[in-house]
Amino acid sequence: MIYGSQFNTYDRNIDLKAFDESKTGVKGLVDAGTEKLPSIFVRPQEDLSKEFETCKEDLAIPVIDLAHVRQRDSQGEEIIRRIIWASEKWGFFQLVNHGIPLEVLDKVIEGVRMFHEQDGEVKKEYYSRDPKKHVWFTSNRDLYHSKAANWRDTLYVNSGSISEPDPAHELLPPICREVILAYMNHVIKHGGLLLEQLSVGLGLEPDHLVEMCRTKAWNLSGHYYPACPEPDLTLGTSKHSDPSFLTILLQDQIGGLQVLHQNQWVNVKPVPGALIVNIGDILQIVSNDKLQSVYHRVIPKKVGPRISIATFLTGPVSSPKMYGPIKELVSEENPPIYKEFTLQEFFEQFFTRPLDQPVIQYFRQTI
Ligand code: OGA
Ligand code: NI
Repeated sequence: MIYGSQFNTYDRNIDLKAFDESKTGVKGLVDAGTEKLPSIFVRPQEDLSKEFETCKEDLAIPVIDLAHVRQRDSQGEEIIRRIIWASEKWGFFQLVNHGIPLEVLDKVIEGVRMFHEQDGEVKKEYYSRDPKKHVWFTSNRDLYHSKAANWRDTLYVNSGSISEPDPAHELLPPICREVILAYMNHVIKHGGLLLEQLSVGLGLEPDHLVEMCRTKAWNLSGHYYPACPEPDLTLGTSKHSDPSFLTILLQDQIGGLQVLHQNQWVNVKPVPGALIVNIGDILQIVSNDKLQSVYHRVIPKKVGPRISIATFLTGPVSSPKMYGPIKELVSEENPPIYKEFTLQEFFEQFFTRPLDQPVIQYFRQTI
């Protein structure tokens, strides 16, 4: 081999497989007293030198106060204008005064923490790499495709079944079932409201985006980022954009989420009781690039664990319906930038590539 010495023949796959087969994720490594970051998590040198230095400390994502939106008054219109502005310029904003009781938020964070901190043997029952499951737990969905693994474990929930009652509800781990369902009950309503506001802001009928997205379908990721012994060498979540119409994220008070804005990373500071909203790839496509699905990532920390809960409004993933730029939003001067596709095609692309390779490019028109 050109690279010469026997010392370079480290077989990463053996380590990946051993980590996967432990079924205890990153939390398992921490519990075993790991003090040095295992090689599978270490980012390649060229990535480390390229990105770490550019965090912009004096910028923050927009905060939108929903206190008055339910009254259809001028402030409601002002909020819609701000939501559109934030979605165009940042792709991200924090929502405050959204009306979800603080207790519901605290309890769901605590429920996800308890899931990850319960007895390893119980958790192993949920361990899987099958994205078609309704409920599963894993570490690094893209473990075998990515250059470096992330310092994170995740509980995944896929709802959106046509059948009633939704089988995902029954399959939820008892330790966090009630709190997740209570939280989702609120979040789904907010997702619908946001899609309505975005529709109005884009000049469409109020139910246009709700009809496209059918908010009954939801996917939830309950992330657990353990304290990291060498945070400068790895990431909690690699840079990515979300495969959704809209994502609603709840984070605890530790911090670590960063958003790429004008080529610089900006910290998303925890605001007690706030929900973070971001535009996903599908909304960027159907709005013909008016709304922005931007890169974000999570920096690991020496302190932890950090818990965050992402809810992805993904639309009816198995429907044969075609999606592409909305007719009302394109014109001769502003022709469609993307091809039409089914959501099934979209997610096939998403699940077969590493998190940090953007799926949106695949659907651009080739001229
Ligand atoms: C995600 C995500 C950020 C976070 O799940 O897509 O970006 O703070 N999560 O965990
Ligand atoms: Ni994301």
